[in-house]
Amino acid sequence: MSKILVTGGTGYIGSHTVVELHNAGYTPVIVDNLSNSSIKMLDQIEKIIGIKPEFHQFDLCDDTKVLEFVKNNPDINGIIHFAASKAVGESVQNPLKYYHNNFFSLINLLEAYREKPINFVFSSSCTVYGEPDYLPVDEAAPVKKATSPYGNTKQIAEEILEETANAYDNFNIIALRYFNPVGAHESALIGELPLGVPQNLLPFITQTAIGKRDKLTVFGNDFDTKDGFCVRDFIHVVDLAKAHVAAIKLLEKGNPKGKYDVFNVGTGNGYSVLEAIKAFEEASGQKLNYVVGPRREGDIVKVYGDVTKSTNELNWKAQLGIFEMMDSAWKWEKYLQENPID
Ligand code: NAD
Ligand code: WQD
Repeated sequence: MSKILVTGGTGYIGSHTVVELHNAGYTPVIVDNLSNSSIKMLDQIEKIIGIKPEFHQFDLCDDTKVLEFVKNNPDINGIIHFAASKAVGESVQNPLKYYHNNFFSLINLLEAYREKPINFVFSSSCTVYGEPDYLPVDEAAPVKKATSPYGNTKQIAEEILEETANAYDNFNIIALRYFNPVGAHESALIGELPLGVPQNLLPFITQTAIGKRDKLTVFGNDFDTKDGFCVRDFIHVVDLAKAHVAAIKLLEKGNPKGKYDVFNVGTGNGYSVLEAIKAFEEASGQKLNYVVGPRREGDIVKVYGDVTKSTNELNWKAQLGIFEMMDSAWKWEKYLQENPID
């Protein structure tokens, strides 16, 4: 079975992608330095797929370790590169950490695989669109000046990848621009494991509902949107994981559109924060304690994806709706309450 390197594979999206790669007949090989995840996720993945995935713990910013891994693992056919630092707020406080981690890990990987044919899937983000000029936003939309060092690392990484694919004949690359991944595997054995106070909406909602947080503060409801609340394209993390399998398959087949391509990975539906809260209350049967507070600096008001290209060319379409997203996120939070993973 074709071996796929999954960097960041014990992380939130990586762990779900390891499961879907296995289900699709691939052999995932995880590299992770556990800087933002727990090694216990390997046991959790094993409970789902029946085998513990191959795991190597090291920092991808260490070029010696990366070269050693590549030498000792010659049968890797593809790479899905999740490993990065991803907290927007932290990136503003500590930009050098983000530029160092996100660029050194990427460049070490590309340089290590310079001499062999490699299919490469990259975790990008809809954050590259900024506040889109039109909605739903498609892949032809202009990339806007990043509003955070984190967002800037994604924009520059896309440029590095496009130029690499066009300069060297051994790389075939797809960048996936994720919208807002939420939810958890239906088994409730894997899910999002935010360290400390969650920065993102969904873990804050579920931690509030289970009593770990006193209340959710909604950052503003006076925006120019259908109900005054910000609008997002929430996508179930399992659908997102399956998009990575589709990308690997497209690269293996040979992407007719060339050696570098970009795809939006969302549902194409925009839900407001209030609609997301209501959907959570319906799915969980829990009334959510929330208050409306001041806006959060840098928040995009409205963003949701045009997923036509992904549907037609990536041969992938999101299957799960907002109810499954909220229901699975709640089940995972309840699982964590009984089975803490640190
Ligand atoms: P995560 O933090 O759960 O997973 C990232 C994993 O990478 C962690 O397990 C961490 O330990 C590992 N890692 C980080 N730096 C490393 C290094 N130098 N060497 C080895 N391992 C390293 O994050 P996630 O939510 O699963 O996101 C995965 C990717 O998707 C990231 O690139 C992120 O920027 C991108 N992304 C995430 C979201 C989101 O909302 N979660 C949205 C868009 C894009
Ligand atoms: C969603 C909505 C908040 C928390 C970020 C990154 C993006 C990607 C996904 C990495 C917004 C509101 C949130 C809270 C709230 N990450 N909110 N109270 O900001 O859309 O995207 O995560 O790639 O790059 O920018 O996600 O979940 O933080 O916020 O009201 O406690 O929920 O204002 O409207 P966001 P989010």
